[in-house]
Amino acid sequence: MQVTVIGTGYVGLVTAIGLADAKHDVVCVDLNKERMEQLSNGVAPITEEGIEGALQQNQSRLTFTTEYPVSDLYLVAVGTPERADGSCDLSAVEAVVKLIHSIQPHAAVVMKSTIPPGTTEKLQMAYPSLRFAMVPEFLREGTAIRDMRNPHRVIIGTHDQQLASDLTELFKTNAPIVHVDPTTAELTKYAANSFLAVKISFINEIARLADIVGADVEDVAHGIGLDPRIGPAFLKAGAGYGGSCFPKDIAALTTLAQQHGEHLHVIEAADRTNEAQLEYVLQKIAPKRGLRVALLGLAFKPGTDDLRDAPALRLAERLTKMGVIVTGYDPAAKTLLDQKDTIEEAVTGAEIAVIMTEWDEIKHVTPRRLTDNMKTARLIDGRNCWAFVEEPGNVQYEGIGRPNKTFSNNPTS
Ligand code: UDX
Repeated sequence: MQVTVIGTGYVGLVTAIGLADAKHDVVCVDLNKERMEQLSNGVAPITEEGIEGALQQNQSRLTFTTEYPVSDLYLVAVGTPERADGSCDLSAVEAVVKLIHSIQPHAAVVMKSTIPPGTTEKLQMAYPSLRFAMVPEFLREGTAIRDMRNPHRVIIGTHDQQLASDLTELFKTNAPIVHVDPTTAELTKYAANSFLAVKISFINEIARLADIVGADVEDVAHGIGLDPRIGPAFLKAGAGYGGSCFPKDIAALTTLAQQHGEHLHVIEAADRTNEAQLEYVLQKIAPKRGLRVALLGLAFKPGTDDLRDAPALRLAERLTKMGVIVTGYDPAAKTLLDQKDTIEEAVTGAEIAVIMTEWDEIKHVTPRRLTDNMKTARLIDGRNCWAFVEEPGNVQYEGIGRPNKTFSNNPTS
């Protein structure tokens, strides 16, 4: 099948590679000429495990261009950023659909961008000759190629039976395929991300209480996660979530509900708890003018150079405003902070080091590398990722909801 993918960000590019992997010919369209040239030469514009190999393997089936081709099937994967009022900015999606309609008024248009419930139905009404479907993505940055090849499920939202069957073939998988209407598909995506955010905020609240009562949140998470109704995933306490999806999607969903006079109390609370979690880390640092703090890990999570809504950057901004001298280290992400090339350089002269991203290198840094370089070796582990396989030396360690007695021999994952 010949497919056109509009937008070569995370979603568009990884989806295109997945389809090319499945032997489909894919034309990728993006306004960014430089990016298209890079991609034509097999160079990936994002840090993502396995992406360059996958690009090269599928070079013969992938075309990158700035021109819209005439096609029977377009996948729309352009950005849907957050507006100032929290709602979702659909202008790029609307412009793309208008253009597709002018080129091929009877094309099938599959929405991959995350769009608020009701959007696809509205577009269908505005362009009755186009045939719409909504197929949300569930790719995680850092493992996106793997996720594309082995999805947990594929949700196909359309009223068009023929399109539903073509898309079942296109996204062929051993995973369950769920057929629904477009609005249900759109809400499924938001519900998935909101639920994960709620899980994180839930365990973060338990962590704060654990600090008060002297319990260990890591053991609590393990204990509750063994119940299959709860499950162990997304119960890692820390400095809170960030990234291009959770904050934006939660804002879009809660704003949409409010516009209809409804409050999504649990989801709104997850967002507030996430803000409070960063304050909690700040409180542990006890910032004051002239204090020297090293932030270890800046990307919003390991395995990516993505800094969108990264908790480390939000923390750096708060600290800097309070007159704290901040240095940073990250193996992949590049920031405007006073960023150093090694952990040693970043912590040199610092009074407190704060782990904000659990990169392997940071997880396994030996206490010695801190004590030898820091002014006072105090470590705040904002990802609860340090495990003490050896004596902590003279490092004064503080996790989130982990009493100091947890200098254990059980490495956390
Ligand atoms: C997320 C969804 O997982 C994915 O399905 C969707 O398509 C896009 O949004 P992603 O943004 O790549 O993916 O990141 P994810 O791995 O979900 O992590 C989001 C944030 O939550 C990170 O900042 C991470 O550090 C934090 N997190 C995650 C926790 O604090 N604790 C956890 O237990 C898990």
